[in-house]
Amino acid sequence: MLKTTSLSVSYGVIEALKEVSIDVKDGSITAILGANGAGKSTLLKTISGLIKPKSGSITYKEEAIHGKAPEKITQKRIIHVPEGRKIFSDLTVYENLMIGQFSVKRESTQASTSALNYVYELFPILKERSSQPGGLLSGGEQQMLAIARGLMAEPEMLILDEPSLGLAPLIIKDIFTTLKTLNDQGMTILIVEQNALQTLKISDYAYVLQVGHIIKEGEASALIKDPELIEAYLGKS
Ligand SMILES: Nc1ncnc2c1ncn2[C@@H]1O[C@H](COP(=O)(O)OP(=O)(O)OP(=O)(O)O)[C@@H](O)[C@H]1O
Ligand SMILES: [Mg+2]
Repeated sequence: MLKTTSLSVSYGVIEALKEVSIDVKDGSITAILGANGAGKSTLLKTISGLIKPKSGSITYKEEAIHGKAPEKITQKRIIHVPEGRKIFSDLTVYENLMIGQFSVKRESTQASTSALNYVYELFPILKERSSQPGGLLSGGEQQMLAIARGLMAEPEMLILDEPSLGLAPLIIKDIFTTLKTLNDQGMTILIVEQNALQTLKISDYAYVLQVGHIIKEGEASALIKDPELIEAYLGKS
């Protein structure tokens, strides 16, 4: 569904991605694992059009999308939930959700009630807090809001950058369960995580990125038993 081929990205002299090729299958959960600075966020930002690649290609349903503006990518229903939540603290929960919808339907100022009902059903706490400023939500609730805002755009492919970062184990479990539910309903998910074990448990396929290179890839069920990976990432978690 989404493919990168020999994708290379540089920040000035820093080569953040070197010939990265991934294939995200329709209906899958595909994970990108790797340490800090490996290039995970760079890969997601390049897919969603925020960074232009130096070389290589990105195709979505066989159509080249590299170099396109972020709003063009969004209109294809490839929706990126960025690292660090990035919600608007001063806007209400409801207003934050509406921004997610405007990203794909600029002409409409009417709430899509079906999308809104859907996210409120998925995250009841957001309905309860809909008129409160986003900044008053807890960290976990803000992460739910960030995901929910992405869902308001009715994604075909949801791209998530470290949704579990800084959250308590129980909340992480909730978030991963929600992602699995979305996937069961047909949504394709590309997820970047440092929480390797839990991510592999819900994923179909995974890639391991190390200083800009893919050093390993495979079915999640096989990687979860891979001695090298256990040593490097899964060991004591
Ligand atoms: N805007 C930028 N300008 C210069 N260098 C950058 C920029 N963004 C990232 N880098 C560098 O590119 C490399 C990859 O960064 P990236 O943010 O993609 O890593 P990451 O795998 O997401 O790490 P983390 O797990 O810490 O989020 C790092 O060496 C980083 O310092
Ligand atoms: Mg990152």
